[in-house]
Amino acid sequence: MNLIELLNWRYATKKMNGQKVSQDKIEKILEAIRLTPTSYGMQSFKAIVIENPELKKEIFEKACPQPQIAESSHIIVFASRTDLKDEEVQEYIDLIAETRKMDKSALDGFKDVMLAAKAFTPERYFAWTARQTYIALGVASVAAAELQVDSTPMEGFSNEELDKILGLKEKGYSSVSILALGYRDEANDYLANLAKVRKSMDKLVERL
Ligand SMILES: Cc1cc2nc3c(=O)[nH]c(=O)nc-3n(C[C@H](O)[C@H](O)[C@H](O)COP(=O)(O)O)c2cc1C
Repeated sequence: MNLIELLNWRYATKKMNGQKVSQDKIEKILEAIRLTPTSYGMQSFKAIVIENPELKKEIFEKACPQPQIAESSHIIVFASRTDLKDEEVQEYIDLIAETRKMDKSALDGFKDVMLAAKAFTPERYFAWTARQTYIALGVASVAAAELQVDSTPMEGFSNEELDKILGLKEKGYSSVSILALGYRDEANDYLANLAKVRKSMDKLVERL
């Protein structure tokens, strides 16, 4: 299938059949997330992969009572930084210098640009880092489709409860979205064979 065919094949799966996604496929989806573009390349988020059925059950019961959580093979929680730390910026500068064999001093200007975000309010900073996780969510859902793995992007959960379960606040992160991964239960998912609903090109696209 080409990209457009894959985008037509994928849908936000409502019922999954519990079949496991192979580790090899999970690693490929994670690699797609790792390669996703982010603002300044800072990657101020984590992708938390959860396969453990007890932990998924706890998330289902306390934070997200949607069936895909329990029926999926894995879920990936996207959580982004709630504050900017000097160490995070320095670590990134070190990584660029090491990867590209550069002198760190050549990156002083870039470092200052990134550190300017320290002036943001916590709300503005989190809104900025959270927006970037949506790009990774989209890339991951396309990567999954390419591997013929079904997925559901999800925002319908209690961020507060999920943060508590995963101990995210203490680590300076907060949850943004979930991508459930697995295989469609074609016989029982009412959405499995319904036509895709999308605006016409004319309504969506403005050509100037
Ligand atoms: C950010 C985001 C959050 C979503 N949250 C949920 C959710 O909590 N539960 C769910 O079943 N679907 C969720 N969806 C799926 C959308 O409802 C679905 O993508 C949309 O209706 C288009 O249908 P399609 O993806 O099947 O083509 C979400 C999608 C996005 C992009």
